[in-house]
This record gives sequence, C-alpha cells and structure tokens, in this order.
Amino acid sequence: MSILEMRGISKAFNGVEVLRGVDLTIEKGEIHTILGENGAGKSTLMNILTGVVPMDGGRITFLGKPIERPTVSLTEKLGIAFVHQELNLFPTMKVYENLFLTKEPAYPWGMLKKREMIARARRFLGELGVEIDPTALVSELRMGQKQLLEIAKALFFDAKLLILDEPTTALNNEEIDRLFAILKRLCKGGTSFIFISHKMPEIFAISDRYTVLRNGEFIAQGNIADTDAESLARLMVGETYSSGDVYRQRTLGDTVLELSRLSGPGFHGVDLSVNRGEILALTGLQGSGSSELMQAVFGALPIESGTVSVNGKPLTRRGIHAAMQAGIAMLPSNRKENSVVPDMSVLENVYLAKHTLSARRQHIPRRAELKKYESLKLLLNIKAGSGSEAILSLSGGNQQKVFLARWLNTGSSILLLDNPTQGIDVGSKAEIYQLILMLAESGKTVLINTLEIGEIQKVADRCAVFYDGRLIKLLSHGEISEHTVMMYSTNAAQTMEGQA
Ligand SMILES: Nc1ncnc2c1ncn2[C@@H]1O[C@H](COP(=O)(O)OP(=O)(O)OP(=O)(O)O)[C@@H](O)[C@H]1O
Ligand SMILES: [Mg+2]
Repeated sequence: MSILEMRGISKAFNGVEVLRGVDLTIEKGEIHTILGENGAGKSTLMNILTGVVPMDGGRITFLGKPIERPTVSLTEKLGIAFVHQELNLFPTMKVYENLFLTKEPAYPWGMLKKREMIARARRFLGELGVEIDPTALVSELRMGQKQLLEIAKALFFDAKLLILDEPTTALNNEEIDRLFAILKRLCKGGTSFIFISHKMPEIFAISDRYTVLRNGEFIAQGNIADTDAESLARLMVGETYSSGDVYRQRTLGDTVLELSRLSGPGFHGVDLSVNRGEILALTGLQGSGSSELMQAVFGALPIESGTVSVNGKPLTRRGIHAAMQAGIAMLPSNRKENSVVPDMSVLENVYLAKHTLSARRQHIPRRAELKKYESLKLLLNIKAGSGSEAILSLSGGNQQKVFLARWLNTGSSILLLDNPTQGIDVGSKAEIYQLILMLAESGKTVLINTLEIGEIQKVADRCAVFYDGRLIKLLSHGEISEHTVMMYSTNAAQTMEGQA
C-alpha cells in the first residue's frame, strides 16, 4: 500500500521553474532514495511535502487522504518528519530540550516536567544506541553527534514517514553503520523513509526503490535491485555522463611545501614534501589525523613541534592569516559548520577570503568583482543567479562550489581541500576532478583529504595514508588501489608483517 502520493508537483522561484510536474510514490515500510544532480529539485520537493514552501500546482495524498495545503505543523501532526540538509538544532539549548521542543510535557500548573524529560531522552537515545548525554549543550557536541541528534529528534515522536536529506555527510563509517541498522529496524516495523544522498554505495546498501529527478523533472523510478550505479548516474546526468578516467601523468616542479617532524593535536612526526604542480591525496580512517594535519598547515590548529616551509622558507608566524599570506588556501570539510556565512549573499561569500587578504583596500571594486564572479560561476558550473542572492537559496552542492570558488579567487599556490566533493553529484564530481587536474597543470599544488578511494585514483599523483596520527605509507599513483589503501589505513599491512 502506498503511504504517500505526490502528483504533478510544480514550483517556481522568482519566475524560474525548479519543479515541473514531478511524481513521487512511497510505499509503507520502504526506504526510497531520491537521486538527482545538484539543483535538480530534491530538497525543494521535500520542502513542499512538509509545508516549508508552498507548491504552485499538484496534488499530495498521505495515507489515502488529500493534503490540500501542507503546513509544517499539519504534516508533523500527520506523522511526517523532516531531517533537513542544514542542521536545525538550537546550539545554546540542551540535548533533551531540543528533543522535546514545542512538545514539552508539563504539570497542570504549567511547570515543565524536567526530570521526566531527561529520563525519557536518556532512555530513548540509549535504545537508538546514540551515545549523547541528554543534559549536554548542543554546541558542545561533535558534528557527527549533532547530525545523529537531529535524526533522533525526528524519530522521537513516532514518525510514519521520515525524510533524511543527505544525513550521512558528517558521520563516520561507524556512525553510518549504526544509523543504517536503526533505519532497517524501523522499516521492518512499518516506518517509511525518503533518503537523499549522492553516495552510490550508501544508496545501494540501504534503499529498496529509487526516483530520479533531472532539472526539476521526473525521469524514472524503479527497484534498486534491478539497476546499477552506472545506469543511475546516466539517468541523473543524461547522455553526457562519462565515468572515464581523468588522471594524467605530468612532470612536476620543485618542492613547494615541506613538513618536517610536524606534530600537533591528532598527528605526530609527519615528514612530507610536495612539489609544484603535484596532487597529493591524504587519507585514513576517521581520527587518523589527516584532516587535523591539513588544518594545522593552514594555521587553524596549533602546531606542537616541527616546521612547515613554503618555497624553502619556514613559516615563523602562525595562524590562518599568515598561512594565507604564504599562499595557502583551505576548503574545510563540513560546509554547514565551517564555510557558510548565512547572512551574506553569494558574491560576499565568494569574496570573503579575498577581502581578508586585501583588508587595507578602501574601495570594493564592485564591477570587477561581478565580472570575476561570473567567470568563476562558469568555470565551476555553479547554478546560481546574480550574486546578490542569499547563499542559502542555493542547493547544497552549489553552495559547496561557491566555497571552492572562494579559494580559487585568492590565487593561492597551495590548495588544501578537505573532503571537497561532499554533497556534490556524480556529474559535477567528474568536473571537479578535471578542474583539480587543470589547476595542477597550471602549477598549483593540491592536497586533497578524502576517504573515497575512487576519487584518489582519479586525481592523485601520490597518496599519503595515515593511521593513528602517523603517516604510515606513501603510495605512488600506480600503487593506489582499494586493496592497498585499505590495507594501510586499517594498519592490516603492519599487523601482517608483525605476524610473519
Ligand atoms: N528559497 C529559494 N529561493 C530561490 N531559489 C531556490 C530556493 N530554494 C531552492 N532554490 C533553487 O531551486 C533549485 C533546486 O534546488 P534544491 O535545493 O531543491 O536542489 P537539490 O536537488 O536538493 O540539490 P543538492 O543536491 O545540491 O542539494 C536550485 O536551482 C535552487 O537554487
Ligand atoms: Mg538538496
């Protein structure tokens, strides 16, 4: 029996159509993935279903009854819960207060039942296997914990249909496994899920059926068991899709970046030298230290000992500004927490880093900026309008491209990219890989921290594998394979050597 039917949904923002006659059917007890490129309309369709934005046309039926005009409170009451792509927690409130928000149990005389709320929150989080103290402040939680709390919040009031819009971007593999186990259990109990993700392995691990959108139109639906990643990618992108190899061998220049015996929070004694025009991948399991190392090179984390040299000169001043002046740029991971300045326009978000470097200039040359913005927009294929739009009106993946533009715009010679394709669709990923190669060919040095081995193979000249805070293996391009990377990042290689 289908629990939800959406028929002929259409929507325009400022005269631009972003959904055209889209259909979606969700069955009881299924996990249904919605796929589509960045800006295809996935989040907007969900915003319409849950009453966040009004639809221009179409029909919605939930549990056999039409919903004429969905509103947030009505759909909540009907049992539809939405975990947004952007987090919606109140950071200055406690975990249990966020869980019970607007539904707090109270005594007849009005006082809230605080002890009961804490106890129920603790029991519930325990049942889910989520290790979070209900009395902790949300701002004190790690990103992964916040994301799990957001999901727990949606599950707390027995939703019949739960929408998860890219829920795993900030979770580590262990947390993802735990989340998927919870979803499968709830599915057996009859809860339905709409799942939005760009990660094919996840989609195949968790979903029963799929719906593909392209440019705001319904393209296809079917059973996951009857398809494969390649066919889905083709449906999403259209005939132009090519999964072809991108790596090109190049001649590299002299050493540009040199780390010697570098130690800091989470990494120890790292020696590494990277050449002009080189693309070096850093990888390792969550907590291996590769991301922390990158942040320390950028001056965002302290260095305890050792040196960072650029073009043979050790950096004596520390901090982000000094790193930027030495020509280092960094795209951090977790767009939502580390990159978005929500009150600023798209253009202001692009120019943020550049303005920091040229803070003493009196005028902002608006015309020149707009011209540069248009060229970056073209280069990165950013789906956005004039630049004066609010950054939050862009789809998640297009926001990420804006932050890449932010750093390309500074003209830095060393680019540190931490998980750069987070939230980026398959077609745009291939474009970004091409772009990274092009940047390297033009003499930039690129360090890319990623867990995706396919990504490493597509771009990297060498791959530095981290384990427990140490660089344990440097692989050449030819040596990079799923097998070798896993061997070293789980430390299986050393364990086996030790046993031999
Ligand atoms: N509030 C808004 N105002 C103006 N335009 C909007 C608004 N919300 C979404 N859009 C536009 O609608 C289109 C569809 O965006 P949507 O967020 O639904 O894409 P998406 O499929 O979720 O993409 P992604 O995978 O990148 O998250 C985009 O072009 C986006 O810029
Ligand atoms: Mg989206």
